[in-house]
Amino acid sequence: MKPTKATKKRHAANRRRPQRNTRDLVRYTAGTRINHWIVAISFVLLALSGLALFHPALFWLTNLFGGGPWTRILHPFIGCVMAATFYLLCVKFWRDNYMQQRDWIWLRKINDVVGNREENLPDVGRYNAGQKLLFFTLVVCLIALLLSGIAIWRVYFSGFFSVGVIRAAALLHAFFAFVLICAIIVHIYAGIWVKGSVRAMTRGWVSPGWAWKHHRAWFRETGKGMHSK
Ligand code: HEM
Repeated sequence: MKPTKATKKRHAANRRRPQRNTRDLVRYTAGTRINHWIVAISFVLLALSGLALFHPALFWLTNLFGGGPWTRILHPFIGCVMAATFYLLCVKFWRDNYMQQRDWIWLRKINDVVGNREENLPDVGRYNAGQKLLFFTLVVCLIALLLSGIAIWRVYFSGFFSVGVIRAAALLHAFFAFVLICAIIVHIYAGIWVKGSVRAMTRGWVSPGWAWKHHRAWFRETGKGMHSK
């Protein structure tokens, strides 16, 4: 029987799509991926609602949340969701983000990193130094946003703080939101730049080649490095 047009299309799509192989490495479990994407979706909603409240020119964004009052009500609750789910992510990734001697060497050789000259670089663990520094930037931002956010959450908490503290908190909240947005732009750019990373966070696995190229020490730790020797 001749294959139909639809079957041909499906086969072509399957050839293009990277297929799972028994030697592939699990990088993120389903639970971790769900956790990460809840944080990411919360971040997008917070950035949109936060920008809507930040400047009158962006007030039209409140239409996405059902108008001004709803945006004001929802923003801090979504913030709590992000803080709680980010905390869970932190607990999982905390140890993997400790800076080690090899990470400082990696940073000093940043020209070789961007030039793709891996042969000049020390082996990288589960995360590289850039990812680790970004991780701690996120931690600082999330803590600062949570604390300053509580102080300016008028309905429930502002009564406990002086006007001076509320003003300072509003300023800090805007500052750390700006830093967080910049950090996440870098995070997304890096994820897209290193081909295969987004798949790690969507499907959970990476190829041995990806692990060998980008996270060689982690590749060895997983025990599968033996095959390539
Ligand atoms: C909005 C779109 C986002 C995209 C496309 C994205 C993409 C990714 C990808 C591809 C990875 C895997 C990197 C690897 O395994 O080497 C990752 C890891 C991670 N992401 Fe995201 N992410 C997004 C948002 C966020 C947000 C908003 C946060 C937190 C505020 C976040 C925190 C993390 C953390 C903590 C890791 C683990 C890496 C580490 O611990 O250094 N991500 N992300």
